[in-house]
Amino acid sequence: MIILGVETSCDETSVALLDDDRGLLAHLVHSQIAIHAPFGGVVPELASRDHIRKLLPLVRQALEQSSLHSSDIDGVAYTAGPGLIGALLVGATVATGLAAAWRRPAIPVHHMEAHLLAPLLETPRPGFPFLALLVSGGHTLLVAVGGVGDYRVLGQTLDDAAGEAFDKTAKMLGLPYPGGPQLARLAGTGRADRFRFPRPMLNRAGLDFSFSGLKTAVVLEARQLAAARPLEESVRADLASSFQEAVVDILVARCLRALEQTSLTRLVVAGGVGANQRLRQRLRDELTARGREVYYPRHEFCTDNAAMVAVAGRRRFPSRDATRSYAITARARWDLEELAPA
Ligand code: KG4
Ligand code: ZN
Repeated sequence: MIILGVETSCDETSVALLDDDRGLLAHLVHSQIAIHAPFGGVVPELASRDHIRKLLPLVRQALEQSSLHSSDIDGVAYTAGPGLIGALLVGATVATGLAAAWRRPAIPVHHMEAHLLAPLLETPRPGFPFLALLVSGGHTLLVAVGGVGDYRVLGQTLDDAAGEAFDKTAKMLGLPYPGGPQLARLAGTGRADRFRFPRPMLNRAGLDFSFSGLKTAVVLEARQLAAARPLEESVRADLASSFQEAVVDILVARCLRALEQTSLTRLVVAGGVGANQRLRQRLRDELTARGREVYYPRHEFCTDNAAMVAVAGRRRFPSRDATRSYAITARARWDLEELAPA
């Protein structure tokens, strides 16, 4: 079976073709970074318009590249939410239109379910059950995953998402958009022990997160230093590194506690912040020391991509007797726990 995956929830237009037997036949990602960079963040209307321009040419290119014809496609999976509503509507409309024209099922996919199933694209695949740490620009979630659609949210952020904290701190340090990866790069050249920033909530029970106090602490420290003289590159690198270490400490501590409380032995890390090298290294060290396993999708499957949407769509392929619907589904907000088991 071959699934066409479509992702347009934010600022990446992505298309993938996934075959049960041969794996990923095509995977194209068009990033809108250049469009949004002058504004220092994603401009929703510009995102929607660019998805309109890029999506169909990408679908055509993916088919050509894999020498497939539209009649070879068994279903079209698309990100139906959560995300920017205009951007979602572009993907949902195009994907549903193609599915209807090709007389194949259209499969609406939950973006965070796609992120947490992304490790299924890799070998070895994590077996169920596992604990998932979903860390993206919009979410920070710890989820006990019993199977596809069997999700129990154990903890989440009370304020900023981890990626959002990276992005806001990066902006404040004068780094260009998109801030998260830029800050991580700068952090690699700095000292993590130069500044001792708070690790909010870590002493409290439970599995929730908070990042806004940490972000504020970095802002205040930077402002104080800059009042004396302009921040040198090395000081900015130390601020970035000390900030990153605090975020990583928080994420690692919460994962360890969640694994202990649930007696789960596998951790899956997903979402854009999952691309962070320091986080990967620390989790790998801490978990292997405790005899636990950690799974990461490769970098391009961590950030937004259509390969993960195709995987999730495959797992949610409708049964033969299901009534086919070409209703266009797009939801800006969508709780992961609302999903039914597949
Ligand atoms: O999953 P994703 O691509 O999009 C959302 O669904 O939000 O995640 C994007 C987030 C951004 O906040 C970005 O700054 C962050 O992931 N990010 C990183 C790194 N790469 C991407 N944060 C820290 N270190 C990185 N290497
Ligand atoms: Zn995402």
